[in-house]
Amino acid sequence: MAETHPNEYLIHKYWARKPSNILREYISSHFKNADLLVDPFCGSGVFLAEAKKQNINATGYDINPLAYLLSEVTANPPSITKFTLEADKLLKLADSFANLYTVDGKEIRYAVHRVESVCSNCKEIGSIDHSSKRGSKYHCSSCGERLFFNFEKFKGTKIVKIFDRENKEYTEKKYLKEQEDLIRKVSLPVGNQNLIPNRRILAFPGMRLSDLFTPRAFYVLSELFDAAHKVKDESVKNAVLLFLTSSVAQSSRLIPYRNNLSTGGPAWTIPGFWIAPLHLETNPIIHLQARKKKFLKGIEALDRAYKSTSARVSVLNRSAHDALSELEDNSVDGIFFDPPYGDNVPYVEFSAIWNGFLRKKIAYEKEIIVSDRKEHVSSWDKYARDISNVISLFDKKLKRRGKILMTFNNLDPRAWKIVLDSFSKNGYVCSEAKYQIPAVVSSKSQTASNTSYVGDYYCIFEKAKTQKKSSHDLFHLTESAKKVLRSRGGSAPKNLVHRVIILTILNEGMNTGFLDRFEEILKPVTTQDGEYYHLRAELSDEKNDASSVEQLVKNIAESSLRDGRKTLKELYEDILEGTSEIGSPLLNEVKTMLSGIVLFDKDFSYLQRAHQNGSLFS
Ligand SMILES: C[S@@+](CC[C@H](N)C(=O)[O-])C[C@H]1O[C@@H](n2cnc3c(N)ncnc32)[C@H](O)[C@@H]1O
Ligand SMILES: [Zn+2]
Repeated sequence: MAETHPNEYLIHKYWARKPSNILREYISSHFKNADLLVDPFCGSGVFLAEAKKQNINATGYDINPLAYLLSEVTANPPSITKFTLEADKLLKLADSFANLYTVDGKEIRYAVHRVESVCSNCKEIGSIDHSSKRGSKYHCSSCGERLFFNFEKFKGTKIVKIFDRENKEYTEKKYLKEQEDLIRKVSLPVGNQNLIPNRRILAFPGMRLSDLFTPRAFYVLSELFDAAHKVKDESVKNAVLLFLTSSVAQSSRLIPYRNNLSTGGPAWTIPGFWIAPLHLETNPIIHLQARKKKFLKGIEALDRAYKSTSARVSVLNRSAHDALSELEDNSVDGIFFDPPYGDNVPYVEFSAIWNGFLRKKIAYEKEIIVSDRKEHVSSWDKYARDISNVISLFDKKLKRRGKILMTFNNLDPRAWKIVLDSFSKNGYVCSEAKYQIPAVVSSKSQTASNTSYVGDYYCIFEKAKTQKKSSHDLFHLTESAKKVLRSRGGSAPKNLVHRVIILTILNEGMNTGFLDRFEEILKPVTTQDGEYYHLRAELSDEKNDASSVEQLVKNIAESSLRDGRKTLKELYEDILEGTSEIGSPLLNEVKTMLSGIVLFDKDFSYLQRAHQNGSLFS
């Protein structure tokens, strides 16, 4: 089961960061005596760091400059004293801009901005407070035309509220006016990049990096980066640059204003460059001070973790294909394969907010991605070519007994098929496949009936000893689907059924042609509605030897706790193991199923019976 990220992996946000505990377990169970592991799509660098902790040399590549920097700092952290020295210099410099962030002599923490938008019909200026609202939509109060608050119609903002460090609120006109004058006082520095236009992530034509910030925030950040770029010691420079990028999103316009500003404040979570009609401007100086503590905690944890290792990790900001081709043949014991999954996350485009400040040129044309952005369009065909070009190098680079650990977090059958076909074409077979449930489930998936089970698949690929022919027999697939449905009284979320089918395809080495035909394959045995499959009525009285998932969970718990208490994690892992064939339930579902049978206290779970017998601490 995946656990949440510890401090050392919280120094910077990144999408798709893999859970370190899972990678740690795979490294120790499959790559224990390795000389060299390679992570060609290293992202945030978790795999590299976990290898280093286990005293294994590793090398990683990523096309995204921010990912490179994050991996490099994570794998090779700077001296803590030197970092602290430079970070403190930056904080002092930041402090010299404090006069840009004052209200009535007090330091401000937030300013709330309201977007002003031009009516495309009458050119009148409107905002959410100066318009007429119908349903959830806003209309021009002069002519009735629909108003949009996105960047295309963005005219500027008005400050409507200010909070100081003590959270005192200022709404008087004179204070608001004073703030706007402060913002306009600065002129925009150079080093301002255009974003790659892409409607899907709300990057509109003509939009520049600076448009994501108020002029004063952009000015302050640019000055800080200027200083950081001048740091001499390479590893300290990397760390302070990363420290600064870790706080730019929070200082941007991308933080929607919601009324509750307690507990650290909101963060950049919306996937894209959405400037909310009412958004926050955080004082970057205050934010940086808080970030420094967190960042330090992270590198201190890394420092401790690397105390007794002599392993070396190198990271390159290059494309997986180019860098891998230059690696010595037959030198690699293991490859961690966690590529971009089709059009799932546009990593490099999202990272523009960071890479702009890093002043790196970005090799968009080398990114493996499916994207319909206007420039650098990238199709599924190109994705397939790029992915297979990388996979086709594995055989040459891996030692004879080398293995590939692949993880996949997507249900898009197109991406699956491309990857699996390419492995099979190169003579690799899947020898082990598992689905890992995330430790934290979003509040959305708290209920048993919910369909959003999001976790990752982990598979081991090895060179096939004999060329096995993949099975075309559908029987396995329909049987496993029936089993899932029966264990849940005849109905189950589609995602759950698909998950079990994918595992069956992997574990049975079945034909990948089945991957994009789920619904067709399941038609003879199911009916569907919305997000659910239902077992066909005529099949429900077929001999049913599948026990219900609830009964199974109870049985597993009984036997797992028979000899005494266990931690909740240990118990849940037994349950995951025992229910994988019918689609494992989430932790909170398990807790509901076991109420009255198992007692859960803060640290342990034990059978209620044992508790009553007084044999609790057996
Ligand atoms: C799924 S993420 C990897 C996440 C990583 N395993 C982690 O735990 O953070 C895929 C990565 O591939 C990178 N990428 C995309 N195209 C690439 C290419 N041609 N060569 C190397 N990296 C690339 C992206 O920038 C992204 O960071
Ligand atoms: Zn109008």
